[in-house]
Amino acid sequence: MRRAVARCFVTRVLPGPALDRLRERHEVDLWPERLPPPYEELRARTADADALLSLLSDRVDAALIEGSPRLRAIANYAVGYDNIDLDAARARSIPVGNTPDVLTDATADLAFTLLLAAARQLPDALLSVQSHDWLTWEPSGFLGHEVFGASLGIIGMGRIGRAVARRAQGFDMTVLHTGPDGGVPLLTLLKRADFVTLHAPLTPETHHLIDAAALQAMQPTAILINTARGPIIDQAALIEALRRGEIAGAALDVTDPEPPPADDPLFSAPNLIVVPHIGSATRTAREAMANLAVDNLLAALDGEPMPHPVHTE
Ligand code: GLV
Ligand code: GLV
Repeated sequence: MRRAVARCFVTRVLPGPALDRLRERHEVDLWPERLPPPYEELRARTADADALLSLLSDRVDAALIEGSPRLRAIANYAVGYDNIDLDAARARSIPVGNTPDVLTDATADLAFTLLLAAARQLPDALLSVQSHDWLTWEPSGFLGHEVFGASLGIIGMGRIGRAVARRAQGFDMTVLHTGPDGGVPLLTLLKRADFVTLHAPLTPETHHLIDAAALQAMQPTAILINTARGPIIDQAALIEALRRGEIAGAALDVTDPEPPPADDPLFSAPNLIVVPHIGSATRTAREAMANLAVDNLLAALDGEPMPHPVHTE
């Protein structure tokens, strides 16, 4: 039986063949630019769409959902979905899907990349070579922190947090985490950990979880890593803590906002690494994410449950 063709707005070109599978069945309106559709454009194009394939940089808010009467499926190309107003979607019974699991290892790898790079002052060392400032072997140059045998505090022991813990075993690290199953209180973790890494979703509860008081609780030799969502950290407080030497360093794959404006004080903070939200940026992960997002849309448009619905409690 031939099923109805739906109109799908896809907000960016995705790697791999997944979008071809969507095109075989439905009409795809693909935003072709490198930059996201401006909010008004996103609203206008979703207004007569049956399905939306959105990115974490697309604000799918109540006004957009209410202004899109035909909309019956939203697939976010991300594991996080804080960019989507779930209450508004629920009010219209629109299923929302995400792309879990397939980016877990890529993101955990990047968290460890940042941990090691920050611990060993990799950016400064690279810069010294690139600027021809490598004059000699210096006994006291680029002195970093030992990772092997250090303690690691994991905030958010979900799929990605556990994948980071597995990597930490290879470095003989003592792993502390918050939450159930042997977790410690946040303050205990912050006080004890040589490295603190964030793997929680952004929710009202985790917004600015790492604030001035949390940073003060950390050791002055500690390093903070964030590959989750920027607003989990009070960024102004982090910049102050780095300036005052309250912690030894930080490495961020995510910021608030993204990207930060060119004059953001973040860019002049000492001992800080910032990379442009590349946690899931492996070909394998990004192609698999595209497949999951398309699977979610195809199922919902056929009136079936999404295989990867977001977990709303
Ligand atoms: C990336 O940040 C994601 O949520 O997939
Ligand atoms: C360093 O290169 C060493 O040999 O100790």
